[in-house]
Amino acid sequence: MDEPKEVTIQTYQGWEEFYSIEKSDKLDFFIRNGRMLDILFSQQFDRSFLDDMCILATQIRRMALTKMGAQKLSGLLSHKRAMLYFVQPSTRTFISFLNACHILGMKISEIRGTTTSSEVKGESQEDTIRTFASYVDLIIIRHPEEGFAEKTAWLLNQNKLPIAIINGGSGPDQHPTQALLDIYTLERSFRNIGGLDGKKIAMVGDLKRGRTVRSLSYLMRNYRDIQLYFVSPEVFRMRDDIKSFLQKHKIEFHETDDFASVMPDADAIYMTRIQKEYSEAPAEESDIYPDFHFTKEHLAVIQSHCIIMHPLPRRYEIEVEVDKDPRAVYWKQERNGMWMRAALISYIFGVNDQISAEFR
Ligand code: CP
Repeated sequence: MDEPKEVTIQTYQGWEEFYSIEKSDKLDFFIRNGRMLDILFSQQFDRSFLDDMCILATQIRRMALTKMGAQKLSGLLSHKRAMLYFVQPSTRTFISFLNACHILGMKISEIRGTTTSSEVKGESQEDTIRTFASYVDLIIIRHPEEGFAEKTAWLLNQNKLPIAIINGGSGPDQHPTQALLDIYTLERSFRNIGGLDGKKIAMVGDLKRGRTVRSLSYLMRNYRDIQLYFVSPEVFRMRDDIKSFLQKHKIEFHETDDFASVMPDADAIYMTRIQKEYSEAPAEESDIYPDFHFTKEHLAVIQSHCIIMHPLPRRYEIEVEVDKDPRAVYWKQERNGMWMRAALISYIFGVNDQISAEFR
């Protein structure tokens, strides 16, 4: 396969101005007929939406258990088509979205790299996406560039018949659907101890470039009395934009490089990997920071209800021996992604009430 030619850069009047607007001031742009059409960043979600999505994900999970339920689900969106445009590597986001679409009966097309599309001939990314819009009702995008999914939504929303866009991970910036499945995992894990409100959550590792912890932090404004502990080496501290957001919304957070001091009090420990792919000098950068790894010895230190999460993939951050402990929920968390993404897609296309009606 040929290597892509130099990418054609096109300018779009109005985009830079739109992109510079505070996210919280442009949420309406992504709404059509009273519901979100595009899912681009975590600031779009409020508490009632999050609660509804968690209930819906569980309803889909339950319906999918029986043949009759699965058949009902698969008829809901059998008239819709989705495109998965994943030009940055992914395993679980791709597979879980693919299966979420299958659960709802959608037809799927996919492009998993710029070398297999006409981008290899120099077609711009924007024209590529516009082409998808000729054929499908939903485009799910994983892209290395911050803002690319938003730009796509901005472009396509100018059409008479806009296409739904979901951000499946935008560079080191955001991963809003991961944040949704993380909330679902937290709420399910804490359902017998009052839910997520009032809990202490430690986020550990590369907080500077980890889009999952960034998106999850934004969602904390929807929960009462949360305390966040940002545990990282000095070089990977959480960026100022998130800290300013938390201060603005009066969410308590602490920064430390002393993981051991945080473990005994935490209700959830959210481990992350060093995101070396964003390094300017990857060969010189270490991705092993043993002081920020969770080992089987640590299982004796944490609370009996404390859950250990990880967006995955993992490298060295969690010892494999930890997997056997019931508090290690990262494999459940991964599977929760499929149910939550099915819930989200059913919401976008307005068939969520048909699912909920099965439980009345
Ligand atoms: N959590 C996550 O985004 O994993 P993938 O990169 O494998 O999709």
